[in-house]
Amino acid sequence: MANKKRIGILTSGGDCAGLNAVIRAVVYAATRQEMEIIGIEDGTAGLLTRPMRYKVLSREMFDMTVMRLGGTVLGTTNKDSPFRHPMPDGSVKDCSKEIIEGINELGLEALIGIGGDGSMDILRRLSQIGKFNLVGIPKTIDNDVGKTERSVGFETAAFVATEALDRLQPTAASHDRVMVLEVMGRDAGNIAMTAGIAGGADVILIPEIPYSLDNIAQKIARIRKEEGRNFALVVVSESVRTIEGDIMETKHRGGERRYGGIGNYLGERIAEVTGFETRVTVLGHVQRGCAPIHSDRLIASAFGVHAVELVIAGKFDRMVAWSNRNVIDVPIEEAIASYQSVDLDGILVRTAKALGICLGD
Ligand code: F6P
Repeated sequence: MANKKRIGILTSGGDCAGLNAVIRAVVYAATRQEMEIIGIEDGTAGLLTRPMRYKVLSREMFDMTVMRLGGTVLGTTNKDSPFRHPMPDGSVKDCSKEIIEGINELGLEALIGIGGDGSMDILRRLSQIGKFNLVGIPKTIDNDVGKTERSVGFETAAFVATEALDRLQPTAASHDRVMVLEVMGRDAGNIAMTAGIAGGADVILIPEIPYSLDNIAQKIARIRKEEGRNFALVVVSESVRTIEGDIMETKHRGGERRYGGIGNYLGERIAEVTGFETRVTVLGHVQRGCAPIHSDRLIASAFGVHAVELVIAGKFDRMVAWSNRNVIDVPIEEAIASYQSVDLDGILVRTAKALGICLGD
């Protein structure tokens, strides 16, 4: 028992569907190789407290139900970098030393960090300073991590947003309304583009493409005149700016700011310029907290297995990635450096334009 290799695993950043499927895959693949898996609670926060907060993960804990569940059994956090940890007196402290000490104390051969680009950056900095072995697994509904075609959680979020459009279409048609759907996507319009095309949207607005209200109004007028259709579906990504170029955000208690409000802003503007009755749906966290669809469970499983293979092979500072229907691994540094927003010359934009979808430009 004492000679078993120990691997740590943590989830960091905003949760998404498929995290439990990743953890399960790591536990299954690693325990078959006689490794011990230490599940660290609440991201790096579990390494900061004394005693540290972690549990030894066994196959038995991952029965037939856990991989089907949304959220993360390990807990996570998407606030406060450990390099600027808020203290009770209001000051901030660099707590990287305590985290590194925690990793050393646990005797980890390697740490598998499941996170988005921000978490990947923090974990890599910690691993460079603390000289511990790190393997990354990309997850985020935004699908904006570089060097991977897919991150865990994106497909499910896009599925939920598509389903929302399926539900909005009949009510829009029944009431002759413009329905505006605000979806998540911090600085990248991947969910809006994917769900918008799949869900038959008439207008898709993303932060990568500046829009004009006139273009949107003309599109809606054409729908009425040429198609004789009295309703329209508009999808807008939360990080789209107002006509004046302002970011719409909500300030939460504690001072944290998050995107939110562009759907209502646009709903009002569209009603003004088109005369259409308009309603707004803000999808929010329902895109994150649900059961993963099959494709997320699949990449979660393949990513978890490959991460364990990297640990066995002694290949570190690497992130597993989805590429051309396969799992590969790339330097974490490169993944962080190449943010993945919507490719303006890519298949999604070309498809949308060829279908007559208005992208606001
Ligand atoms: O990055 C993932 C994400 O879901 C974004 O799409 C969204 O802007 C943000 O997190 C919401 O964060 P929170 O859960 O803190 O409200």
